[in-house]
Amino acid sequence: RTVYVNGDYLPEDAARVSIFDRGFLMADAVYEVVSVLDGRLLDFDGHMARLDRSLDALAIANPLSHDDYLAAHRELVDRNAITDGLVYLQVTRGNPGDRDFAYPPEDTPPTVVMFTQAKPGLADAPAARTGWKVVGVEDLRWGRRDIKTVQLLYPSMAKMEARARGADDAWLTEAGHVTEGTSNNAYIVRGGVIVTRELSRDILHGITRAAVLRFAREAQMTVEERPFTIAEAQQADEAFVTSASAFVMPVVEIDGKKVGDGTVGPVATRLREIYLEESR
Ligand code: PDD
Repeated sequence: RTVYVNGDYLPEDAARVSIFDRGFLMADAVYEVVSVLDGRLLDFDGHMARLDRSLDALAIANPLSHDDYLAAHRELVDRNAITDGLVYLQVTRGNPGDRDFAYPPEDTPPTVVMFTQAKPGLADAPAARTGWKVVGVEDLRWGRRDIKTVQLLYPSMAKMEARARGADDAWLTEAGHVTEGTSNNAYIVRGGVIVTRELSRDILHGITRAAVLRFAREAQMTVEERPFTIAEAQQADEAFVTSASAFVMPVVEIDGKKVGDGTVGPVATRLREIYLEESR
């Protein structure tokens, strides 16, 4: 595989980042994941807009323009012959010297890394026909989940707990309400109304969420942005999650209880179809 590091395209084995980089020592870094379908990048501009917001929130100066990122994404998709898959992008604060809690000087060059992952048949994932099982796990992440940092240890722990409990993913809960999945936004459907938590610092502002809610409203579906509980979700007609890599993924079981009749519902199916149609 050919990867990108600070302007260079290198074989993955030749790529190097300093052990003093704050991305490595302190998770002082942000990332984006852009899906590739039929060789085309999905929602690229949305991901760039969020990258800017994440970097601004951490006072990391963006070292590249959107056009530079676009060119690098296309170059990597090309060189690695990616038809379906994703491009991972990470920008860290860098670090010229020793470990220190204080940020390094402002002129410290950030580290930029990009790589591809091939996922043949990404849009036709069999899981989209059977749906995911999820379990509730307490949300113990930090309070700025709107910044897409690489602090992913707690979501990884929650994912492992979900696996251990025989599920595909965890729905994180705080003060009794679902915030989001480990790496996706969460929704329920009741009486034709799509319910998903409102945007705040408590959740990541999903790029797929924005697109799916726009398509839902255009299709005259009603959307309610408010928190919901696991108990309410278990009583819902349907549930699903959205993310750049899962698109719209139905959820058919929550904490061992079937949602509706336990099969993939019409709203999730329709939204998945619309999303894949519109973004290709
Ligand atoms: N995760 N919430 C969290 C906590 C996420 O990590 C993600 C994305 C989302 C969905 O955002 P978007 O629709 O912009 O992908 C919501 C990516 C895919 C990941 O970590 O691989």
